[in-house]
Amino acid sequence: MRLSVVYGVVLSLILFCRSDAAETFSVDGKVLNLDESNFDSAISSFDHILVDFYAPWCGHCKRLSPELDAAAPVLAALKEPIVIAKVDADKHTRLAKKFEVDAYPTILLFNHGIPTEYRGPRKADLLVRYLKKFAASDVSVLESDSTVNKFVEEASTFFPVFIGFGLDSSVIEKLGKKYKKNAWFSVAKGFSEDLMVLYDFDKIPALVSLNPLYNERNTFYGPFEDEFLEDFVKQNLLPLVVPVSHDTLKLIKADGRKIVLTIVEDEGEDRSRELVKLLKAAASANRDLIFGYVGVKQLEEFAENFDIATKLPKMVVWDKSDDYLSVNGSESIEEEDQATQITKFLEGYREGRTIKKTFSGPSLMQFFHRSFDIRVLYVVVFVVAVLMLIQTLSKGGDEYHRVPNQDQVDHASSSVSEAESKEYRPGDKDD
Ligand SMILES: *[C@@H]1O[C@H](CO)[C@@H](O)[C@H](O)[C@H]1NC(C)=O
Repeated sequence: MRLSVVYGVVLSLILFCRSDAAETFSVDGKVLNLDESNFDSAISSFDHILVDFYAPWCGHCKRLSPELDAAAPVLAALKEPIVIAKVDADKHTRLAKKFEVDAYPTILLFNHGIPTEYRGPRKADLLVRYLKKFAASDVSVLESDSTVNKFVEEASTFFPVFIGFGLDSSVIEKLGKKYKKNAWFSVAKGFSEDLMVLYDFDKIPALVSLNPLYNERNTFYGPFEDEFLEDFVKQNLLPLVVPVSHDTLKLIKADGRKIVLTIVEDEGEDRSRELVKLLKAAASANRDLIFGYVGVKQLEEFAENFDIATKLPKMVVWDKSDDYLSVNGSESIEEEDQATQITKFLEGYREGRTIKKTFSGPSLMQFFHRSFDIRVLYVVVFVVAVLMLIQTLSKGGDEYHRVPNQDQVDHASSSVSEAESKEYRPGDKDD
């Protein structure tokens, strides 16, 4: 009874605070319309707010809009609500410029006022699942088999999942905070032996990592100390052998380890898949290195930095700068007995029989920050426009009439001839 009174007080306090914020925004699960006048206060009013910068004429935006309408009430009802808002970027250009909106729709997620671009799915149900990650507690405490299963199911495939069985949440609190954007963290307090079988661990405490996207699972039995724990988490944020893409490159770059990169013609070919299997075996025995592969067909603009004129597949060690290492005598992987060649490559690398090479393409910074190029382009266009304006002004007003359209030419010439004839007549009379 007394508890329900406490709940009642807490609830009314929450509602009171809510209604305070609702002076400007009514949080009713509808998508907020923002403009210059209310944007800043909206961002500071909510811990998590997703803003869709749209243009009324853009087709992708029109398709996104009903999905956001559907997701908004679900996200508003979360324990840590996420508010959805939109800005007509075509109309409110100052806001669009401020957040460097150069394509529609641009979706920004503001967590405590800090924006990150949202690149997740755009269907309402998937969007909700994806966004929940950002509003969930750092470490979820799971009390039973069914909550564990529900947690794993709802985590979906976007992020790896870590479950500490028989582990105190304080043990992984720090990592949960640090890697919040990259993975789900939880501890399971009550679970049956069935779950031990399901997640394949035979004693506790155990930290199980699941990477549903790559169908991988790993178990860590300790020691549960900061450094070892973090190594385990970091290693399992990425799959054993990482397919290099724009998305995974960010994770690869954030990981301190060097990457053993295998460049193949086409990731989809059977022989590439066979090679990846062999690389997995090597990767699990060499966890101080990341293993990755990239297909020229899949990501040519990246792969071509590694001198792909030489025979493929080839292996290099890359420290994520504009340099990489080849192993003398182990550049390309021949068809026969590839496992031995991978071993020889790794031996050669460990023994320092390496040759340093430099990127043949544009620098990696350019690859990562292509939007930077666009900004440079804007500056160049602006400077050229200013120079043209200065030139125009310095040459005087008649410069403006240099390139008239045909109407203006006709009109101008007829008015000139009129003026001439008018001027001529009085002259005539004077004579
Ligand atoms: C590569 O190895 C060969 C034979 O072991 C050696 O003669 C050559 O100098 C090495 N090349 C480089 C660049 O280290």
